[in-house]
This record gives sequence, structure tokens and C-alpha cells, in this order.
Amino acid sequence: MPRALIYAANWKMHLAPAAARSFMDHFLAVTSPAPGRSLWFFPSAVSLAPVAEAIARRTDIRVGAQNVHWEPKGAFTGEISIPMVQEAGAGVVLIGHSERRHLFGETDEQVARKSLAVLKAGLQPLACLGETLAEREGGRTEHVILRQLEPLLDKIPPADWERLVLAYEPVWAIGTGRNATPDDAAQVHELIRFTVGRRGVPGRVPILYGGSVNAGNVLALLARPELDGVLVGGASLDPDGWAELVGLGVG
Ligand code: PGA
Repeated sequence: MPRALIYAANWKMHLAPAAARSFMDHFLAVTSPAPGRSLWFFPSAVSLAPVAEAIARRTDIRVGAQNVHWEPKGAFTGEISIPMVQEAGAGVVLIGHSERRHLFGETDEQVARKSLAVLKAGLQPLACLGETLAEREGGRTEHVILRQLEPLLDKIPPADWERLVLAYEPVWAIGTGRNATPDDAAQVHELIRFTVGRRGVPGRVPILYGGSVNAGNVLALLARPELDGVLVGGASLDPDGWAELVGLGVG
């Protein structure tokens, strides 16, 4: 039986409510559920509700927030809480995307705190890890990945890892058109799995790959059994293109 695959669309700061709704109407008209394939959408917070409404009848599609605060409420101007995104229809939350880490100073510690809060609220975190180009070229990929994993392993009890999904997104591959080779990706996925397993986490943690994934390279990446899916930015913004990408290798 083939493994279940997750195709996650990270819309970043694109697609406002009306555009998000018409994307979904079009996308739903041209795709049908496929066995073993789950489709996750991460729209902007203001577009969560229209996407959630559009997918109400599709059990193969989930919608999630791109970021949340770890506190359920309070004086945190500009932040958004887990109960808020949950009420808007989110079932999953993207945590620690490299743009959050590098442009907005999110730390490894905060990523772990957010992931734990998301799990406690009964939602599913998709936590991102990945090294920069300088770190890779300096031979520090393994060190960086282990450093990013450490607070997650520290804060989240092994049994709760059952609902955690990780994404390996090398920073140098995001939005650059330069994707990691299937071997590069598989090697880091293995490292993550080995590290997590050694710390007593049972089962197989799903790990997605992200960074310049497109219709031309997705099949070669997913041919590697270490990958459980993909997290896609640019190539997920057009409904026909995204429908084509998620349909490759199906049926
Ligand atoms: P990209 O973005 O597919 O445009 O490289 C991926 C991501 O940031 O999640």
C-alpha cells in the first residue's frame, strides 16, 4: 500500500478573501479526492473562513493558519490566537516557516512553544526546519537541524508527536528556483527521523519537503520514500497549476 502523501499550499501574503474563494471554487471544480492524498491550504488569516467554507464537503482537504501566538488571548497587538483561527475553520497550523524565522526573528524556542500550544488545542502543527545557504556551505546543515529540533523534542512529550508533521525547507531553496535534489532532501529527512526516533518518539513522523517544488520536479522528489509530501509556495498560487501538480502521479 503506498504511503499517504500531503500536498500543502503555502499562499504566504497572497490571495485576499475574494481571490481565495474564487481560487477554491475553480480548484474544486477541476479536482476530485484521490486515495492516499491529502491537500492542505495555508491562506492568509483573513482568507481562512472563505477557504474553510469552500472545502466544507471535501474530507480530503484541510485549511490552516500560517502563524499563531502561543497564548489563547491577551494584549498582543497584531497577533492571532489559536482559538481565533480554529473558529475560522483551521485544523492545521504552519509554524516556524523560514520567513517567520528569518524576516520576523522567530526563535527555535518560540517555534516549539507554538507547536505545543497548537497540539494542546487539538490542532495539528506543521513545523518547519531548514538551514541557510551559508550554513549548508559551511557544512553546518546537520548542526542547524539538530539545534532547531532540540526545543521541539524538549517541550513536546513523545506521545504527542503522533499529531506533529514536520517540513524540511532549506532556506536557499525557497522561492529561488533552486530546489534540493531528492538525495539532499532524503538525507536530511533521514537525519530528522533518526534523531526523533532516538529520543523515544514512536511511529513515523511525517516529513514534507519544501523549496521551489513545481510540476517538473515533484515526482522525482516524491519518488524518495523518505518524503511524505511537499510544501509549496509559488507553484500553489494558480488553481490550474496547483491542480496539475497535485494530480501528477495520481491514478
Ligand atoms: P516556494 O516556497 O515553493 O515558492 O519555494 C515554499 C515555501 O516557502 O513554503
